[in-house]
Amino acid sequence: MLTGTMLNLEAGFDTRDSPAQARTARGEFESDLIRALAVKPHAISPKYFYDAQGSRLFDSICELPEYYPTRTELSILSTHAGEIARQMGPRAEIVEFGAGSLRKVRLLLDAMQEPARYLPIDISGEHLVDAAAALKVDYPSLDVRPVVADYTQRLLLPAPGAGCRVGFFPGSTIGNFTPEEALHFLRNAAQVLRGGALLLGADLIKDPAVLHAAYNDAQGVTAAFNLNLLARANRELHADFELGRFAHSAFYNAPLQRIEMHLVSRRRQQVAVGGERFELAEGESIHTENSHKFTIDSLRALAQRAGFTAGPVWTDPNQLFSVHWLHAPR
Ligand code: TRP
Repeated sequence: MLTGTMLNLEAGFDTRDSPAQARTARGEFESDLIRALAVKPHAISPKYFYDAQGSRLFDSICELPEYYPTRTELSILSTHAGEIARQMGPRAEIVEFGAGSLRKVRLLLDAMQEPARYLPIDISGEHLVDAAAALKVDYPSLDVRPVVADYTQRLLLPAPGAGCRVGFFPGSTIGNFTPEEALHFLRNAAQVLRGGALLLGADLIKDPAVLHAAYNDAQGVTAAFNLNLLARANRELHADFELGRFAHSAFYNAPLQRIEMHLVSRRRQQVAVGGERFELAEGESIHTENSHKFTIDSLRALAQRAGFTAGPVWTDPNQLFSVHWLHAPR
């Protein structure tokens, strides 16, 4: 059995499991939401999507027929796992930024020669412990070391082992950052991984109709995911959002090469959060997320600006998605 003690508490890792820290996290959501409603244009960090309900909805998004990225990245990883594992060499360790569903890292572990260690980093301690326990069942000899931390901040990791340290950042989450944040994240990763490499998934620019469909699924799961932000505010912050008064809006902004997600006020209305009232005009939006799309070259150029040396790139036959091997110099 794995318990919270599995969490690596050496060297000041951030743990968020105590009630006091949960309060801090809630306070941060409240103050960020209040700030989002107080300034125009309204925008809030997508990190607040992922409570338990949001994470479940996100897992459903990944299964949708229109949502090609997850399926395509999985097929790229499984097709090229042998070649990727060769890049890693024997006894490599994987540092995953965000503990995902673990399906993707299993594809790597199965192809690797004597994988030494797996260090998933996630801000949610609970999610991390569950994920680590699930993985440990199938890889009993793997050293699994969950690290509870915000990977967008400076990271302190245990010293690398004998093999190559490989960062893993799938899902095109890099595209959910602003270009400045992406550069900052990559610079930080290049530091943590120096002497090793980063395996990075990035969604590619394509027919806007295909992009549009991926974020406007017929079943409305993406809409429910977007609206869950307001539902979560009602649950946790006792806000009074009426979900029916907001519309999910997602569209491709071609000049900025990104999908934008918004919650649009269907009418003039007032909302209350944390004892403060805000007015929204009809058609006014709260910008909830960006998902930047890349070309293979634009992604490689970004990585190079952050200090990486671009290596091999794997893609699918339709060039929908890309997986990059980026060397982190010593
Ligand atoms: N990073 C992925 C993407 O941008 C997954 C994702 C994050 C997502 N937030 C989302 C997908 C919101 C759909 C809706 O596509």
